[in-house]
Amino acid sequence: MWATNPDVTDVITREEQTLGPEEQVAFRDLIDFPSTTYAAFGIYRYPAKFIPHVIAYVLKNYAHSRAKVFDPFAGYGTVGVVSRLYDCDYELWDLNPIIEVLHRITMLEPREIRTRELIDKMVSSEEEFMPDWSKFDYWFPPEFVPILTRAWGFYHSLDDEHARLLLTIPLLKASRNFSFDDMGRMKLSKSPKSKERIMQLIAGDWKKRFYETVRRETENVLQRLSEYQSLAPKMTKAVVRGGVDTLSTNLDEEKDILITSPPYLQSQEYIRQAKMDLFWLGHSEMEIKNLSRLEIPYRNLPPRPVNSPTFSVIRDDIEEEHIKKIYDRYFHGILGALSRLQDKITSRLFFFVGRSSLRGRPIPIDTIFAEHFTQMGWIHEKTLIDTIVARRVFSYHVNPATKIEDRRTATENLVILRRP
Ligand SMILES: C[S@@+](CC[C@H](N)C(=O)[O-])C[C@H]1O[C@@H](n2cnc3c(N)ncnc32)[C@H](O)[C@@H]1O
Repeated sequence: MWATNPDVTDVITREEQTLGPEEQVAFRDLIDFPSTTYAAFGIYRYPAKFIPHVIAYVLKNYAHSRAKVFDPFAGYGTVGVVSRLYDCDYELWDLNPIIEVLHRITMLEPREIRTRELIDKMVSSEEEFMPDWSKFDYWFPPEFVPILTRAWGFYHSLDDEHARLLLTIPLLKASRNFSFDDMGRMKLSKSPKSKERIMQLIAGDWKKRFYETVRRETENVLQRLSEYQSLAPKMTKAVVRGGVDTLSTNLDEEKDILITSPPYLQSQEYIRQAKMDLFWLGHSEMEIKNLSRLEIPYRNLPPRPVNSPTFSVIRDDIEEEHIKKIYDRYFHGILGALSRLQDKITSRLFFFVGRSSLRGRPIPIDTIFAEHFTQMGWIHEKTLIDTIVARRVFSYHVNPATKIEDRRTATENLVILRRP
């Protein structure tokens, strides 16, 4: 339990830390995109995805044409999708290998495609693909297995890369609809509701429903891709690397801007959430196990200095060793990696972080980050606070690492730092 409950901001003032001001903003009002999921921004449901407005705000105000932008925890790759609109080069890393295929899809120029013809070929295809997944039977009712394994067999045998990429998200969506996963939750989970959904599907014309979903979703992807093209993306230089452990990888060349939204304190199981899709895409069980082990709650990280009085005050107040361990692992991992990577950043750092809580105790991650980098010689310009909670995080009621109920992030804060 917490020994006392001091208000950390009373203990250390912003002035003492030479921190810049905090300003309330609504990123949605500052940037004129029709919606957060418009165009290529919303083709795939990725947990804790940036709203594109935040990146657009940063690039519009702080980047120049051909600036080099870097996101070491890039997730869906929103930074890349927006960078092209501002003529910026970019490098994206993520542990989750899905980023590579997602990025290729968002970059497709929509080409006239005969969706019905393609699906007819899928229906009559004899190819089969069975994911390398020992729990496969737990997630799919036997009735659906032939249609799924054939659809994916067709997918993996397609030589036409454009058509294959276009079919990726529609097939992932349709396959998830045909699984026991409760899609109301971000985390892969079976529930009475999802079992009921499958029972109802089985009772109807599910074959028709499956192909109809694939067709509809393909049209949807095509429409979003043309919306994206209408925003006039530029052909800039891109490096996109999935399967990268940012906690142990170095950057080879200098970048102007680092903008990132690191894993949340209370939500860190991205690979576990994505694994059904990764199996369909052909990743092996061994590969996925190895990637899962690299997620923060599951690894032992060497201690790294965290130069933040706020961090220390909160830490001293944690009595339970296992909570302290989670707290330490998180900051040692994330700040350790970012402190190493900042060396190669020449101009600005932008961190988009929520104000999480651990055991009911608020953890001002933005302040801890601002203090830490100020101590490293960066200047904290300001923190922009967006009170509209824009992002859908994992809907855990209980943190899988702490087994403790967590309060959801209430604001999203953009910490802005610059080189002196
Ligand atoms: C908050 S999400 C980023 C979402 C992203 N901003 C977007 O717009 O989709 C954090 C990301 O960190 C990634 N991640 C977690 N541990 C990692 C590690 N050790 N190395 C690289 N990436 C990691 C997760 O896979 C996840 O995609």
